[in-house]
Amino acid sequence: MNELVSPVVDGKINIEEKDFIIDHDIKFYKKLRFYLNGTYVELDNPDPDITLLQYVRSVGLTGTKLGCAEGGCGACTVLISSYDPTNQKISHFSVNACLAPLCSVDGKHVITIEGVGNVKNPHSVQERIALLHGSQCGFCTPGIAMSLYALLRNNPNPSEKEIEECFDGNLCRCTGYRPILDAAKTFAKPAVKCCESDVDKKSDRIEQNNGCGRGDCCKFNNSNSFSLLNLKFPQIKFKQYDATQELIFPPALISSYKSYPLYFLGRKTKWFKPNSLNELLLLKLKYPQGKLVSGNTEVGIEVKFKKVNYNVLIYVGDLQELKGYEFTDDGLTIGANITLAQFQEILQEAGKNCKEYQAETFKALLANLRWFAGHQIRNVATPAGNIITGSPISDLNPIFLSTSCMFTISCYNEMSCVSREVLAKEFWTGYRQNTCTSTEIMTKIFIPLSKERQFVRAYKQSKRRDDDIAIVNAGLMVHLDDENVVKNVGFGFGGMKNVSVRTPLSEEWLIGKKWGDENVLKGLLNNLREELRLSFDVPGGMASYRKSLVSGFIFKFWYDVCKNVGISTKEYNDDDINEFIGIIERNVSKGVQTVGFKEDDKKVIGKEIPHLSAMKQVTGEAIYTDDLPKVHGELYGALILSQIAHAKVLSIDASKALAISKVKGFFSAKDVPGENKWGPVFHDEEVFVSEEVQCVGQIIGLVVAESQAIAQEAALLVEIKYEKLSHILTIEEAIEENSFFNIDRKIIKGDVDEAFQHSDHVFEGETRIGGQEHFYLETNASLVIPKNEDNEFEIHASTQNPTETQIVGASILGIAANKIVCKVKRLGGGFGGKETRSIPLTLALMVGAYHLKRPIRCMLDRDEDMIISGQRHPFLGRWKVGVNNDGKLRALDLKIYINAGWSADLSAAVLERGITHSDNCYYIPNIKITGKLCKTNIHSNTAFRGFGGPQGMMITENIMSEVADKLGIDVVEFRVGFESVRVEKMEHKDGLCGDEKNFYSEGQLTHFNMTLNDWHIPSLYEQVKRSSEYERRHQEINKFNEKHKWKKRGISLIPTKFGISFTALHLNQAGALVHIYTDGSVLVSHGGVEMGQGLHTKMLQVAAEALSVPLDNVHLMETATNIVINTSSTAASVSSDINGYAVLNACKVLSERLKPYREKMLDKSFKEIVKAAYFDRVNLSANGFYKTPDIGYDWDKNEGQMFFYFTMGAACTEVEIDVLTGDHTILRTDLIMDIGRSLNYAIDVGQIEGAFIQGVGWCTIEESLFLPNGHIFTKGPGNYKLPGFRDIPQDFRITTFRDAEYPNLKTIHSSKGVGEPPLFLGSSVFFAIRDAIKFARKANGNNDIVVLRSPATSERIRMACMDEIAIANIVEPKENEKGWVIGV
Ligand SMILES: Cc1cc2nc3c(=O)[nH]c(=O)nc-3n(C[C@H](O)[C@H](O)[C@H](O)COP(=O)(O)OP(=O)(O)OC[C@H]3O[C@@H](n4cnc5c(N)ncnc54)[C@H](O)[C@@H]3O)c2cc1C
Ligand code: FES
Ligand code: FES
Repeated sequence: MNELVSPVVDGKINIEEKDFIIDHDIKFYKKLRFYLNGTYVELDNPDPDITLLQYVRSVGLTGTKLGCAEGGCGACTVLISSYDPTNQKISHFSVNACLAPLCSVDGKHVITIEGVGNVKNPHSVQERIALLHGSQCGFCTPGIAMSLYALLRNNPNPSEKEIEECFDGNLCRCTGYRPILDAAKTFAKPAVKCCESDVDKKSDRIEQNNGCGRGDCCKFNNSNSFSLLNLKFPQIKFKQYDATQELIFPPALISSYKSYPLYFLGRKTKWFKPNSLNELLLLKLKYPQGKLVSGNTEVGIEVKFKKVNYNVLIYVGDLQELKGYEFTDDGLTIGANITLAQFQEILQEAGKNCKEYQAETFKALLANLRWFAGHQIRNVATPAGNIITGSPISDLNPIFLSTSCMFTISCYNEMSCVSREVLAKEFWTGYRQNTCTSTEIMTKIFIPLSKERQFVRAYKQSKRRDDDIAIVNAGLMVHLDDENVVKNVGFGFGGMKNVSVRTPLSEEWLIGKKWGDENVLKGLLNNLREELRLSFDVPGGMASYRKSLVSGFIFKFWYDVCKNVGISTKEYNDDDINEFIGIIERNVSKGVQTVGFKEDDKKVIGKEIPHLSAMKQVTGEAIYTDDLPKVHGELYGALILSQIAHAKVLSIDASKALAISKVKGFFSAKDVPGENKWGPVFHDEEVFVSEEVQCVGQIIGLVVAESQAIAQEAALLVEIKYEKLSHILTIEEAIEENSFFNIDRKIIKGDVDEAFQHSDHVFEGETRIGGQEHFYLETNASLVIPKNEDNEFEIHASTQNPTETQIVGASILGIAANKIVCKVKRLGGGFGGKETRSIPLTLALMVGAYHLKRPIRCMLDRDEDMIISGQRHPFLGRWKVGVNNDGKLRALDLKIYINAGWSADLSAAVLERGITHSDNCYYIPNIKITGKLCKTNIHSNTAFRGFGGPQGMMITENIMSEVADKLGIDVVEFRVGFESVRVEKMEHKDGLCGDEKNFYSEGQLTHFNMTLNDWHIPSLYEQVKRSSEYERRHQEINKFNEKHKWKKRGISLIPTKFGISFTALHLNQAGALVHIYTDGSVLVSHGGVEMGQGLHTKMLQVAAEALSVPLDNVHLMETATNIVINTSSTAASVSSDINGYAVLNACKVLSERLKPYREKMLDKSFKEIVKAAYFDRVNLSANGFYKTPDIGYDWDKNEGQMFFYFTMGAACTEVEIDVLTGDHTILRTDLIMDIGRSLNYAIDVGQIEGAFIQGVGWCTIEESLFLPNGHIFTKGPGNYKLPGFRDIPQDFRITTFRDAEYPNLKTIHSSKGVGEPPLFLGSSVFFAIRDAIKFARKANGNNDIVVLRSPATSERIRMACMDEIAIANIVEPKENEKGWVIGV
């Protein structure tokens, strides 16, 4: 591809005849012309297989990121502006550059994050996100900023609701979204009344000054005598947003750009862009196999993930004749290739131009379009693309099916265009098949007006409400006569067969029956159950749930119509009906943070300084591994992964791959020059598999080529023959097969058997918890550069563990560690997933680089990353609990099984933390916990924020809830005792600490014999209980639930304590190196890695405070193993503690050396002082070291101190569930954390909120599923759902504990580790859901104990309610029948 960036001459885009080619009687232009960030770009014959993302990154605009390549994360968001000459209108829309073909931008203006602003002159969107703490790791940030920018380009005065909704196509894994929303809402147009914060003015809380979140909030300038930090309004003077200053649409694209048919010939693909319908039909005649492409949101996925080769692509996205719309007396006709966003606008417009009853179908389409993907997809995807694809879960097709919509299909016949019309219900013929022939295309779609007394509704249920494909969806239509007798009916369902279907039998049965008659409803539900039967192992799984959803939708529809035609029903009045017929509507969210200590003598420490890289991140200037410029001679590596869960490798044949020119080599086990074995603790993994694969996704080989595309294509050609062996996937299978690693752990304290004998009650149960994918936005990436001198290697890797990478790298190459340097600038998130599982990729590249003596780079595709890299461990806890009549826990016997996967990795340590956290906050005098590591044939599970602690506590809290239910007492009472008793105690002991019922008290010993000092759990629990007004809201919830049958609310109050230290003693050490240069600038290096958690910011604060210099004076470049050596991985929430002390110690040495100069040069600047010291030959470089004192636990003896201290917290959450669908929303969360005296409150609040939301995802929507053959099913954002912007609590109140003294805390500046501890509080959502389910069950007279498996997905919530509809739809497995997908 030759690139010519030529200026536009005299404002005109020049065209030359030589650049045209005539083919099939059409004169095609051979150049692509567009603007990029205001600059004209002309490309000669661009490659049709290149995406816009690949292009912009290849020209150095690396601010636009690759997070998934499937339109599911928004990291690649850019803005495209185009001009419509017909309407003379410029439109601006956000798109996913990962799906947009480069060739589709002809005549358009592409704006990337670099075109919006830069660090020197940031756009107000960028500035506000950065300064209001909306960027942590920053990998998602440019994409998020672009979505907001796109909104403002179209609407400079958006409402708060529009702002919340504009992010529906973006994900962030770090922040928990609240700070981004706060920053974005500063652009919101003024509400009627500012600052309607519903904070209770009577309470003694102090957040009344926190305002409403708007930039011009009335509280902005209020000074409060109480000197707490106010994160939301840190008195920053923001740049004004001025819409007139935006990058203009290039005038040349209006005045002198003429659209020509285009033809590009790539390496594999031909690209045609016809300019008229005639040209299109002609091309289709000539190339019947030619693939039409419009938004490319289906075709792009097929090419990238299903590896489909389309040799001829015909682009129709800009074809005017397939756009436009017409409104007639019968209905609305739209061009088949308008975008879905335009479709939404047209439907709204059409609704205004007809009588209300005529717009029923329009409204139904709008209802489902609202939940169709995210903005970036809707801005390019088209109805034709959706209809022709014919996905069984299409969101539009069920509505078209049910409402006599009609499609116009056209083709060229004998040199003229002929068209036919086909009814939607006759269009689809099977799985992704329809009646179109290969030369036909779709041109129009007709949507009829609805008639009087005709009702149309749309329904969709998915795992997550925003941007998710449907589990089941429906378009339901009924037409009633004046007597409410059914005249006509159309039910369209998606997700029930391999194509969207009508239900002719049920429909026929219903015609002539009376709507509103309860028996008719019953009959209809029975008929549909029969007509839409599903087997237990149905593809897609969830048979019972899917059937229940059909019934639920019909139920909602039935009563909705009853209400509309005025039929009064026995069971429900109009209010009841209103409450359950719709979906759960979320309010605009709001958040309050109350943080800080009353008095503070520090200058830099404890201040809410924004992440020091935030501005670079939000402008796209921050460099991540794959953003590093290409180095000379660089090659690309592609991995060959095992496709079988357990097998012998019989042969590997790479000859076809090696035959491709530009492929430089293939490497496998035989090529490893040193030790092929490695492992973080036990050396039980191979760099490349030599004989036997143990799971799908194990690395067998590496293909290296000149480019990524060639390497990936060649990798597909490597042939491997296997001999299959039997495999084990789940914990239960491993127990049955006795498949364990030989690394058991146990803690025994007291005598459980005896205690059980003396307990008033003994209960047994089982708690099952699923895994969790890290889903850091930046996948694993490495660049290995051989130095070709002395066998030296420079590695740039996205790893939390540079030293381990260096040491293992040396061992597998058979060279000394001093020849290797591993450098890490920053990670786009890690969360434990890059602690050890980042290493295999680097090792494979090192082997290739060693042999080829050339640099090799690889950034894993999202699916590869999810297949290879392991997850949070699934847990199974089998427990027996003894409890007395007074509600005191007597004994716990707990057996923990964890799914370690195929190798040991860090699983033993994860199990240890699971065991040590299985008491959560409760004193259980007799305890026996044993743990086993299940060896299975899935990826090797690994560290993940919390490291087994959350799973251990989840078991305990399930025990607490289930035992409380069995005893018939409130679980809060079970934890803390009866309110009356407590009040009495409060009078004696200030109420906050003391002999709570089951909580530990100060000075007590845990089961691992650690004394609980500075024990604040009872106080925290009490404080959050009061501030959340738990008691009052509990009563209100009771009342709400009595009134509402199909919506239920629940509330929970969950405590947590989390032990801070690595449990492997040697890891609790850190080093730092601090240099002071003669200009007074300070360079700090330490052993920790920056992965978004703000570690470097905190470390620089420590250095600045210690050296008494402004923060601007100190700088940190990167983490490198040749600067600070033998680093521990950045993990276990200790990095600030240990690296902070190492930095402090180094600074103390330097301060001491500078002290004489400071004393005698009182009026001199730091620079002058440093200079004077330099001239006196004072060493201005110092290293610092720290090892955590006191700790050291012996598992055999159950003695020694396990943790340095505990971080504690508590949360109260209220949720609402929709019983008929299993949907839920978080109404409110109040969370309090004891984080000591924070080094930086803004960063720590970010950690709290981010961890909480990650915890919410873990135990609600994030479900990791496998196919029975061992392939992971959930391997991308399409079917693995992270919480999105609108899954956070509607009302989110964070407080840091400030009433404490810490006589025993020996940490740096009395701060506490905060990265992991809040995660478990996300489970408060799980337990609130459980509470709501209890109410739902009770309403049906079912008092069975709720045993809820985590995560509480919509499927589990729905089916756990056990109402008559759910029960009627249960599909039992036949003998030996397994589900289509399984949780492991
Ligand atoms: C992240 C993501 C989220 C999604 N979410 C949803 C969702 O919530 N609900 C849902 O239903 N779908 C969803 N989809 C699927 C997809 O977006 C839709 O099917 C979309 O409507 C496809 O339109 P397109 O223009 O991008 O199609 P393309 O990919 O361009 O084309 C799709 C197919 O249509 C054919 N085609 C296009 N135009 C014509 C025409 N005029 N005549 C004949 N054939 C034509 C193409 O040849 C191709 O076979 C999602 C996809 C992604 C990537
Ligand atoms: S990278 Fe494009 S949406 Fe994820
Ligand atoms: S800051 Fe959003 S993913 Fe890290």
